[in-house]
Amino acid sequence: MVEEHDASELGTQDYWEDHYKEEIENFSSHGDPGEIWFGEDILNRIIRWMESSDLIRKYSKIVDIGCGNGVFLIELANEGYTNLTGLDYSVNAVTLAKQIAKRQDLNILYFICDILEGLQNTYDVIHDKGTYDAVSLSENAKENRLKYIENVYKSLSSNGILIITSCNWTQSELDQQFGEKFSLLAVIPTPQFKFSGKVGSVVSSCVFKKK
Ligand SMILES: C[S@@+](CC[C@H](N)C(=O)[O-])C[C@H]1O[C@@H](n2cnc3c(N)ncnc32)[C@H](O)[C@@H]1O
Repeated sequence: MVEEHDASELGTQDYWEDHYKEEIENFSSHGDPGEIWFGEDILNRIIRWMESSDLIRKYSKIVDIGCGNGVFLIELANEGYTNLTGLDYSVNAVTLAKQIAKRQDLNILYFICDILEGLQNTYDVIHDKGTYDAVSLSENAKENRLKYIENVYKSLSSNGILIITSCNWTQSELDQQFGEKFSLLAVIPTPQFKFSGKVGSVVSSCVFKKK
């Protein structure tokens, strides 16, 4: 039994439109691409895991859902990955991501897409950093989470991989929610903290394989 979180503004499209509107202004005036959600260290750990995996190739078809400013894809492009797509339901996020990629002359496809409406294509790797979290904070979170899981499942090629990083759910909660359709392949180590003698992580990063 999953205990849902309370809905918050982070689960609304308006919040993200406002957020990326400001980020577009910052990028125009200072060239700053904006926030790296959960920080650069976690982003690097995910990429290092991808580099070490024999299931992912430089030509694998990779999509970042809820890509925001697209910095994750920029890093992948700089590592030599060639088949990269970013999707976000925020028009402003997609505008910003396109501007950043253009300035670096990188070939990344970006589309406006609500993951809850489903994806148009299938992919070898689906990456999500913070988007399932946002979905989990929306109104009707339970229904939306189930839609998300179903749509991600449908859009993965057979043997496809989902890499998901969350600050709202622990590794075992993610496994519980995705476990019916996916098997847990790896847990990407994230920085640990110790509180009252207990060791935990603030962020969980899991790799699932389509069953
Ligand atoms: C916490 S931010 C993370 C952004 C980016 N993944 C990163 O790591 O910087 C969540 C992102 O998910 C997007 N998002 C939330 N719900 C979505 C949905 N239903 N479909 C597509 N994108 C969504 C938001 O617009 C926002 O860009």
